[in-house]
Amino acid sequence: MSSSRFAFLLYLLTFAFLLQAAFGVDPLFNFCLDTGNFSANDPYEDNLNNLTGYLSIQAPPSGFGLGSIGQDPNQAYGLALCRGDVSTPDCETCIVEAGSEIRKRCPSNKGAIIWYDNCLLKYSNTEFFGQIDNQNGFYMSNLQNVSDPQSFNQKTEELLSQLANEAYATPKLYATGETELDGSQELYGLTQCTRDLSSSDCKKCLDGIIGELPSCCDGKEGGRVIVGSCNFRYEIYPFVNA
Ligand SMILES: *[C@@H]1O[C@H](CO)[C@@H](O)[C@H](O)[C@H]1NC(C)=O
Ligand SMILES: *[C@@H]1O[C@H](CO)[C@@H](O)[C@H](O)[C@H]1NC(C)=O
Ligand SMILES: *[C@@H]1O[C@H](CO)[C@@H](O)[C@H](O)[C@H]1NC(C)=O
Repeated sequence: MSSSRFAFLLYLLTFAFLLQAAFGVDPLFNFCLDTGNFSANDPYEDNLNNLTGYLSIQAPPSGFGLGSIGQDPNQAYGLALCRGDVSTPDCETCIVEAGSEIRKRCPSNKGAIIWYDNCLLKYSNTEFFGQIDNQNGFYMSNLQNVSDPQSFNQKTEELLSQLANEAYATPKLYATGETELDGSQELYGLTQCTRDLSSSDCKKCLDGIIGELPSCCDGKEGGRVIVGSCNFRYEIYPFVNA
């Protein structure tokens, strides 16, 4: 993944949590993709508006949607994915917000991707379905260090690898689970892929980002590697809805 563009974010959990409670939900990150620009009254923009509206209706019931609208050269392709535990109304809220926020952040780009805790939205003027996107990605890690990094890192890697194996074998390409750490503490994890990927490509994507653990999250109490097609997260507290 050496050629990928990766951003590295650190976060202070309590602070982020308080901000979210006070001001609503902020995006985790976004990229404006350099696949072309559009100008005012461009037919591409109508197709894009149509597409984001369509995805906000189509995706929430199952948590995933994809589609394309318009004719070449103004065709827009997009997909939306909600985290596997997110309810239909929360999924819809997230995708609607994502569609409006990304247009403010990337007003003339034909392609863009934005991530929230609850969802991701990606669109482009080039067809990208079924191809692993591990180029657009970022890390997040908790600032707190664990006291026994060696054994903690190993447990984290084991848990996420197990969850990668579970995720790719399910239709939802999503898995969560936990494992016991020393001293009766629990470690919680999540893995997920976008459902345009084949199950073998989902596995490939997850194995790739789990390989980033030493760069992202060495000895850290919590962390995430998030790319266009898959992501993982682990924490020492529960963070998914049952
Ligand atoms: C899009 O516009 C930006 C500046 O606004 C420019 O840097 C970029 O090269 C353009 N991309 C394409 C593909 O035309
Ligand atoms: C969106 O697409 C549908 C079906 O192609 C079309 O009927 C509708 O007019 C479009 N709406 C906009 C706002 O472009
Ligand atoms: C965690 O460890 C790193 C590297 O040893 C250090 O730079 C950092 O200050 C530590 N963080 C905290 C919150 O103690």
